[in-house]
Amino acid sequence: MNDQIIVRFIAIGLILFFNTMVQAQSPLFVPDTISGSTIDLQFRNGFTSFYEGISTPTLGYNQDVLGPSIILKKGQNITLNVRNETQDQTTLHWHGLHVSPENDGGPHSIIESQNSWNPNFTVLDEEGTYWYHPHLHEHTEEQVTLGAAGVIIVRDDELSQMQLPKTYGIDDIPVIIQTKSFDESKRIQYDTALDDVVLCNATIGAYFDTPAQVVRFRLLNGSTNRIYNLGISNNIVFSVIANDGGYLSIPVDTDRLIIAPGERFEILLNLTNMQGEEISIMGYNSELPNGYYGAPNPSVMPMGGIPDYEFNSLNGEDFNILDLHIKEPTESGLHSIPNSLIEQTGYNESESSEFRELRFSPLQMGPSNMVNGPFGINNEVFDINEINQNVKLGNVEIWQLTNMTAIAHPFHIHDVQFYILSINGSSPPIHLKGRKDVVLVPPMGGSVRFITKFEDHSNTSVPYMYHCHMLSHEDDGMMGQFLVLPNTLNSNEVSTSDTRIYPNPTTNSVIINGVNNASISIYDQNGNLIKVILDVKNDDEIYLPQMPQGTYHFKVRDNGKKEIIRIIKI
Ligand code: C2O
Ligand code: CU
Ligand code: CU
Repeated sequence: MNDQIIVRFIAIGLILFFNTMVQAQSPLFVPDTISGSTIDLQFRNGFTSFYEGISTPTLGYNQDVLGPSIILKKGQNITLNVRNETQDQTTLHWHGLHVSPENDGGPHSIIESQNSWNPNFTVLDEEGTYWYHPHLHEHTEEQVTLGAAGVIIVRDDELSQMQLPKTYGIDDIPVIIQTKSFDESKRIQYDTALDDVVLCNATIGAYFDTPAQVVRFRLLNGSTNRIYNLGISNNIVFSVIANDGGYLSIPVDTDRLIIAPGERFEILLNLTNMQGEEISIMGYNSELPNGYYGAPNPSVMPMGGIPDYEFNSLNGEDFNILDLHIKEPTESGLHSIPNSLIEQTGYNESESSEFRELRFSPLQMGPSNMVNGPFGINNEVFDINEINQNVKLGNVEIWQLTNMTAIAHPFHIHDVQFYILSINGSSPPIHLKGRKDVVLVPPMGGSVRFITKFEDHSNTSVPYMYHCHMLSHEDDGMMGQFLVLPNTLNSNEVSTSDTRIYPNPTTNSVIINGVNNASISIYDQNGNLIKVILDVKNDDEIYLPQMPQGTYHFKVRDNGKKEIIRIIKI
């Protein structure tokens, strides 16, 4: 053997050695984009090779895992054809988009196996980063964790002169941050606290070749439960330009950014003159306050942890999320960060006409329940047939969230973007001042107040959801639903069919006869909605225990038929 060959042998040996030592670095997967006035999405089973030579069953849209980034234009009318090619039921929700409840893809809009769903809506949203994911009650964690999620980017032609990076996949990059748990055969597990593998866009050990200029990352925490305390290695400062529902008024410089499940932040990194360097987006979770999932301790109480939590090597540690290899800049690359963005004014508290309080608490008492749940909102667990709040269309409302548990919960509401008024009694940090649809409510009596306006969409039978975006909590029932009701009830919807509600008058209950699968809204004499009952079948009995004596109007909707029947309670 001559020397050259020996050197080669040693070199190959070293390469093999390092390859088995370190998780091979993989280029960040950047999903394709999809746009236009009709968008087809196929929800399907797939196989993904997270680990070399091993294929793992996953779920995706039009691809094996995750889905294409949907590019929408503000003002555009769009139809989506969502086809369910799996064996299971699903739904598909446009998280953060302001659409009517029947187009929102919540738990009521089930798509059966081999069936399609065709929502249609006008894009009313601000330029920003949103996302889509299934919302099937009790199965959201399972389907999202197996890979079902994708990014939505709303663009606004009127903002095209803004000096921001916008070349998708080059200097404008979506990053879905998730942690997953794999068993010995590298299958994804859900319903576990052993989510110790970090993925960006379904890539383990991801790196991205970024140009040496200003780059925009659209960060989405698509994790089941985990919160991240983001930072850049070497403590490089970055600028937050947008959160859930659009731009902030000004870029906010920071070196740390907490992102909870469901939240999005767009950040700018100025990498000018850094060609050749390597830096990383990190999770500095050793600094995360206790009581946040992912912190050294998930509970703020000395007792009561999460089973297996201490065996997860990410908890309370610092770890790499995405490595950045800085390469040569592009020709049209930007090299400075703008001074101002889009003025966000919010709503005036004096405009509000309604105040609601939602309280999070464990449904049973005990140190373990304070951290593990199951949790309720106002002591109620989610019931798909029970409407928890009725909101009048056009209302400006203040909602107060109070967390009586030992763990922080990221609260999310459908339909609207809100403005945070206070967190634990003080004004929110500036990077949380824009339009939001998720807010992390601190533990142990922590509180958040926000203000929002319910406009454009109303429906007397299909509700919107609000819930904790830790998917295990949501599936366990930490969710409620609200109707946005039109201001005036249309009284010329008169009975024409043979629906019968009897006895009438009644004392305590009525039987509904002549319906298939109806929804019934009960209004009092003054037109106030008292109760909504969904999925009413023929000959179902409805109990009216809490209703005082008097006249009520039962608005029955069944298969496109609407009628109002007057019932007297004696
Ligand atoms: Cu991201 Cu109700 O969901
Ligand atoms: Cu949502
Ligand atoms: Cu929660």
